[in-house]
Amino acid sequence: MWDRRTLSPRERFLRACRREPVDQVPVWLMRQAGRYMPEYQAVRAGRSFLELCKSPELCRDVALQPIRAFGLEIAIVFSDILLPAEAMGCDLVFDEDGPKIRNPVRDRAQVEALRDFDAAAATPWPAQALALTAAALGPDRPVIGFCGAPFTLACYMIEGRGSRNYENTKRMLYGAPETLHLLLERLTDNLVGYVEDQIAAGATAVQIFDSWAGCLTREDYIAFAHPYTKKLVQRLARHDVPIISFVNGCAHVLDVMVDSGAQVLSIDECVDPAIARSIAGDKVAIQGNMDPTALLATPAVAERETRKNLEAFGHGRGHVFNLGSGILKWTPPECVHACVKAVQGWS
Ligand code: CP3
Repeated sequence: MWDRRTLSPRERFLRACRREPVDQVPVWLMRQAGRYMPEYQAVRAGRSFLELCKSPELCRDVALQPIRAFGLEIAIVFSDILLPAEAMGCDLVFDEDGPKIRNPVRDRAQVEALRDFDAAAATPWPAQALALTAAALGPDRPVIGFCGAPFTLACYMIEGRGSRNYENTKRMLYGAPETLHLLLERLTDNLVGYVEDQIAAGATAVQIFDSWAGCLTREDYIAFAHPYTKKLVQRLARHDVPIISFVNGCAHVLDVMVDSGAQVLSIDECVDPAIARSIAGDKVAIQGNMDPTALLATPAVAERETRKNLEAFGHGRGHVFNLGSGILKWTPPECVHACVKAVQGWS
């Protein structure tokens, strides 16, 4: 086998994505930069979240905070999945309880009125932030680019805010499916260039966040979410950068996700890792699954639960350690530290 830690963090991560043997399970955490960190709160003080997303130097600084604080070796560019919605003409604001779109898209005329955008002109900040983050990390440490999946972005554009039942989206899905398909098609087309700019800026891998697709029946997932994620993955394939597909609430569609063309499936905390492993077979690597609420108690609990999660995955091959969904803002930083150390000390 390997002497301990012979691979660079970049090589370790890429090998895990390709299901090749590694010297240690690579680790990063969804929402690893953010409000649970006092360092983040300090940068965020006195400016809005959107202003922060549009200040590439500050995005770099914030993306590096969890790297420095916890010894993490994989960064994710600091940005938000909703910037492309703004670039297409949505009036986006972030307030106390999350994002709001003040002109939601509810009918065909509104879908047609959306703009196609050139990312470098309309929303250059994520690629700029990524280039700065990559330069600060150097060639041996990976930085992940990202976008929202077409379905999740469509949900936000239609609902205009977070939602429990997705009533407006479902009304369109059942009542005017061709309008929803048009919106999904337009989002997919626009996301290609948006992600390609992040790849050109140095992204080691790209994660597609389908945070809301778990609200769909299996049949509707197959009709409205999967084809667009798959198309996006296909159109990015020529860049030879691993794609990670995350669907929150994915238990009922794991076998469908395996066929998206993404090299890595990121699974939520409700899926049994052994079942995910057996569905993934030798086709894709698995990321995720650690319950983010297991980091809310004490460092000792975080360490214990991290070990349990690693054991549940069995052999480390084709596994990227991560949470099943993003770190919660009430998470004590020392619990994150204990989690990261437990992964790095695992053999
Ligand atoms: O380290 C990182 O992962 C940072 C980059 C990042 C953010 N958002 C920063 C952020 C990433 C990858 C995202 C993705 C994102 N944004 C998703 C998909 C991931 C998921 O959780 O399923 C979604 C659904 C969004 C939309 C969004 N942005 C919401 C719902 C919210 C508010 C609620 C919340 O959980 O914070 C945001 C705001 C946001 N995005 C913050 C951060 C750090 C907090 C903003 C603040 O400072 O007030």
